[in-house]
Amino acid sequence: MSAKVILGLESSCDETAAAVVTSDRRVLAHRLAGQEAAHRPYGGVVPEIAARAHVEALIPLVEGALADAGLTLDQIDAVAATAGPGLIGGVMVGLVTGKALAHAAGKPLVAVNHLEGHALSPRLSDPDLDFPYLLLLVSGGHCQLLLVEGVARYRRLATTIDDAAGEAFDKSAKVLGLGFPGGPAVERAAALGRDVVPLPRPLKGSAEPHFSFAGLKSAVVRAHDSGRWSVEDIAASFQAAVVDCLIDRTIRALAHADAATALVVAGGVAANQAVRGSLSALASANGLRFVAPPLWLCTDNAAMIGWAGAERFAAGLTDPLDMPARPRWPLDPAAEAVRGAGVKA
Ligand code: KG4
Ligand code: ZN
Repeated sequence: MSAKVILGLESSCDETAAAVVTSDRRVLAHRLAGQEAAHRPYGGVVPEIAARAHVEALIPLVEGALADAGLTLDQIDAVAATAGPGLIGGVMVGLVTGKALAHAAGKPLVAVNHLEGHALSPRLSDPDLDFPYLLLLVSGGHCQLLLVEGVARYRRLATTIDDAAGEAFDKSAKVLGLGFPGGPAVERAAALGRDVVPLPRPLKGSAEPHFSFAGLKSAVVRAHDSGRWSVEDIAASFQAAVVDCLIDRTIRALAHADAATALVVAGGVAANQAVRGSLSALASANGLRFVAPPLWLCTDNAAMIGWAGAERFAAGLTDPLDMPARPRWPLDPAAEAVRGAGVKA
């Protein structure tokens, strides 16, 4: 059977993206338009600005991606679009565009959960990665440990009870005057500093493998206000504390993931070298393969949506054109709400 070609669309946060991906793991095209400059004056993503920028950027990106791939819309086998979770305005722009393209081309729509895009992205870059695997999904909106048992089969072992790891990076960067987006800026500053500032490790050692980062951010505020430490030392200490928490919680989750043969990291924070290095060491200490997608596939992009679309399409999972956009959409619907948790899914 010949490979299927999927057009992927992503617009759930502050990246607009279109990609053409095949079911035999070829990325024929991927285009992306970031909105950093538009949001920078506000120090964070402004939903209305994001939605408007997606409207303006998406169709030219689709046309560009198809041109890069040397294909026309009728040569596509399915259209995959992020249908949530995320900022509702942006999700609607991408999903409605996906529906219109699918309808115009007479091809099926695959509505993709953005988290599933991240969760399956390591299988795009690594053909040997089989189910089940233990996934640490660390992004700006989410911090979860998931047992990925198959396409559309996810068991959530842990989540954050307050902030996501990337959110902690972004908020700390703001406090430290390092700008937006915060993750890469904190990583650069941390490389120039020393891990000398005493900072807490929220939930470290607790029985359930959940995460918490709000207290760590508050401690960063206090350390900065004290005037005792350089920005670089606070950044290095903050990053070390985050890594420490991620590793401790992942060790705890491994106890519930006997069948897993690989430890996998995905999401924007997976671009961080300290995070990757520590997880890689943890995996080898436990006799597990370590798999991390290349950096461009870690942060938001449409190739991961196209790939998740290819996996779902192969499993016969397509969606009707009245599929609603879902600003909240947990990957594991059976996961219980975490005691003490705020609004994070
Ligand atoms: O997956 P992603 O692009 O968007 C979401 O779905 O949230 O993740 C973005 C998050 C941001 O919080 C950003 O600061 C963080 O990933 N991030 C990093 C790094 N690069 C991006 N965090 C730490 N170190 C990095 N190098
Ligand atoms: Zn994401």
